[in-house]
Amino acid sequence: MQLGVCYYPEQWPRSMWADDAKRMVELGITHVRIAEFAWSRMEPRAGEFAWGWLDEAVETLASAGLKLVLGTPTASPPKWLIDAHPDVLPVRADGVRWNFGSRRHYDISSETYRRECVRIVTAMVERYGRHPSIVAWQTDNELGCHETVPSYSGAALARFQTWLQRRYERVEALNDAWGNVFWSMEYLSFDTIGLPNRTPTDANPIHLLDFRRFMSDEVASFHREQIDVLRQHAPKADLLHNFMGFFTTFDHYRFAEDNALDVAAWDSYPIARTESIALPEEQKARYARTAHPDVSAFDHDRYRAIGAGRFWVMEQQAGPVNWAPWNPVPAKGMVRLWAYEAFAHGAELVSYFRWRQCPYAQEQMHSGLNLPNNELSPGGLEVQQAAREIASSAALAGLGAPARAATAVVFDYETQWMFEIQRHGKTFDYQTLAFDYYEALRELGLDVDIVSSKADLSPYRLVVVPSIAVIDETLVDQIERSSAQWVFGPRSGSKTTAFAIPSSLPPGALQRVLPMQVLEVETLRPTLTPALSIGDTQGVALHWREHVRANGETTVDAQFDDTWPAILTHGRVRYVAGWLSHALHREVLQRAAKDAGVETQLLADGLRIRRRGDLTFAFNFGPEPVQAPAPVNATFVLGHSELKTGDVCVWRNA
Ligand code: GAL
Repeated sequence: MQLGVCYYPEQWPRSMWADDAKRMVELGITHVRIAEFAWSRMEPRAGEFAWGWLDEAVETLASAGLKLVLGTPTASPPKWLIDAHPDVLPVRADGVRWNFGSRRHYDISSETYRRECVRIVTAMVERYGRHPSIVAWQTDNELGCHETVPSYSGAALARFQTWLQRRYERVEALNDAWGNVFWSMEYLSFDTIGLPNRTPTDANPIHLLDFRRFMSDEVASFHREQIDVLRQHAPKADLLHNFMGFFTTFDHYRFAEDNALDVAAWDSYPIARTESIALPEEQKARYARTAHPDVSAFDHDRYRAIGAGRFWVMEQQAGPVNWAPWNPVPAKGMVRLWAYEAFAHGAELVSYFRWRQCPYAQEQMHSGLNLPNNELSPGGLEVQQAAREIASSAALAGLGAPARAATAVVFDYETQWMFEIQRHGKTFDYQTLAFDYYEALRELGLDVDIVSSKADLSPYRLVVVPSIAVIDETLVDQIERSSAQWVFGPRSGSKTTAFAIPSSLPPGALQRVLPMQVLEVETLRPTLTPALSIGDTQGVALHWREHVRANGETTVDAQFDDTWPAILTHGRVRYVAGWLSHALHREVLQRAAKDAGVETQLLADGLRIRRRGDLTFAFNFGPEPVQAPAPVNATFVLGHSELKTGDVCVWRNA
């Protein structure tokens, strides 16, 4: 359980650096990340390097005893580079090029830019790669942020055509797989295929999907070029990238695999995220100052899988931020709570953004651990408290790794892309559906692993698949081999890899273990709400509902009031034929957990628990005080069972 901070020495006079380093150490910080936007200071003019300041910053921080994470500066190419190579700027879907003057203004497909990145990263790592205090390297910054991926440039087009040729080999095969006979969309050669933008109406969904697959591979291959250089010259350091919350533009599982990352790091801004995602207004209001109780946990659990167990929070919200629709000050205690929450989910390090609020430029309204006048901010004081607590508790300081959970949620990036391309109804969003299931499991007091459908799922007792567009035979093999209970949500198995409807009808290959067919589907405007009840729990279908037929020995466990089946079961496999209102999802999952022998406990509203090592952590995100479900004679390592808003307690498991 280590604490870190993001620091920008280039934004402050040198006379402050030594004192900053000393105060970081006094605060209990062990790691500091620097340099990820400092290209114009590292190389003020093409080929003219100015390392003096960075040498001094590194030495100042290292000699204070801090461990460093060095960021490569490729998220902000300097003006001279853009002037020399304007084609580096990315192109929007409407064909307009982005301008210089902020950050992430580069096209990942640009060969020129890829060369420039390898050049600056090589220069940097040749200089600092073997420095004993530099324990990790962060590549770039938040790949794909600000919607600069995808880019619709000429470079992207050329590489897309090559990618298609590699995938399909013959243009006839592509025409066939894409169904290009429709609307006379057939191509005579790969070099005549365009990008799927600026078409009068919808482009072919498989054209869009292949472009997204290609762009996902582009992000990974762009990044891989930096990794290769870093590995060679910094063989002992951990290599990581700082991913984002609720971000699905590229396939993170494949990315981590292709890039052999040592750690998955991610940037956690819980309040801003709560404001920006599709949550019901009453939840946004309830959790306006604490963030929704599952919004960070969801990504902690996701990135734990992406980092093969090792994950860090590279940037943690430390106070009000500047980029959400509204940016309130967090409730007292939250800046401390978020660190414990990340640790409970398995984080090795929580690093706050940023050391000091910068009084100028784009992020002047963004807080840090210090106010612009260098006084500790309220968030800074909470970090000080957490650091002291951890340092004085052997139980917290020596925390073991989190065990594998009994429950898995399968999350699939391609499913997100397919259902974004074809929402079919304006309010259908796969990630929101997955989050709703995850939330229900967490309300039942369960620890959850979020995993890829390609992972080995055999150790789990309950596997929840909120939806997965393509069900391949290997997944069905996994179901057959496992002894778990499986729950599949709507739209599962509804597509082939070529983005077509399976010839056996949805849910495609799942029919091997769950004989049923989806005959028709419908999306639901807010006034269309087919009702149903499961046991005593009543509710409705929202957004999406299917008209299905149970085949063979499949049983219908619940039906809508217009008699269409709602829950179908065969053996250990359940299918939910609609997007159900939240309490119904929870009811379905509670029943499946019971059948799986996984014990559940419905937690008080706003309360969450998480086990790590031999400890249980409890957190109160709600506005009302709650009682943590600790045994009466529990030994508390931190706090006690009465939890006010923003409180944390930790007890030793019996
Ligand atoms: C992150 C980014 C940081 C900073 C921060 C502000 O997305 O990586 O550089 O901009 O947001 O919240």
